[in-house]
Amino acid sequence: MGPGHRETPDKMTLRFEASCPDGLCPGWSIILKGETPSEANKFEINFLCDRDDRVAFHFNPRFTESHIVCNSFISNRWGEEERCSYFPFATKEPFQIEIYSDDENFHVYVDETKTMQYKHRVEDLKTITKVQVVNDVSISSLEISKKHFY
Ligand code: GAL
Repeated sequence: MGPGHRETPDKMTLRFEASCPDGLCPGWSIILKGETPSEANKFEINFLCDRDDRVAFHFNPRFTESHIVCNSFISNRWGEEERCSYFPFATKEPFQIEIYSDDENFHVYVDETKTMQYKHRVEDLKTITKVQVVNDVSISSLEISKKHFY
């Protein structure tokens, strides 16, 4: 992989991807309903800047570590991880994740419980135009809707 690309030790398996050219943040809410397979290792929800490969928000539950790892990929490198040790996922258990953002933060709810928030590191929120779901997750539904308080 050359410069400007994320380096991933394992091959990524893309499960879902959608673009919104006018930007997803703030204002759009993503609700993912899914289940992880019995041999689940990790999965990711990424909010990306379509134009230049930045990852504004990487939400990465890791079953092997029982941690949720969050980060951003900016200027060709991962920044400082923000880890959440509250791990509400279990293999073969259905879950719902909602992620939306306001001007300051991404907000994450798992099964309607506030799990974490992540302060924006990408300055121009309008450049966040793509969302993707990757790796060990089986998606039963994914809803993208506009929140009305903006
Ligand atoms: C790396 C991993 C990336 C991403 C990053 C988050 O070790 O290869 O996929 O999860 O950590 O900090």
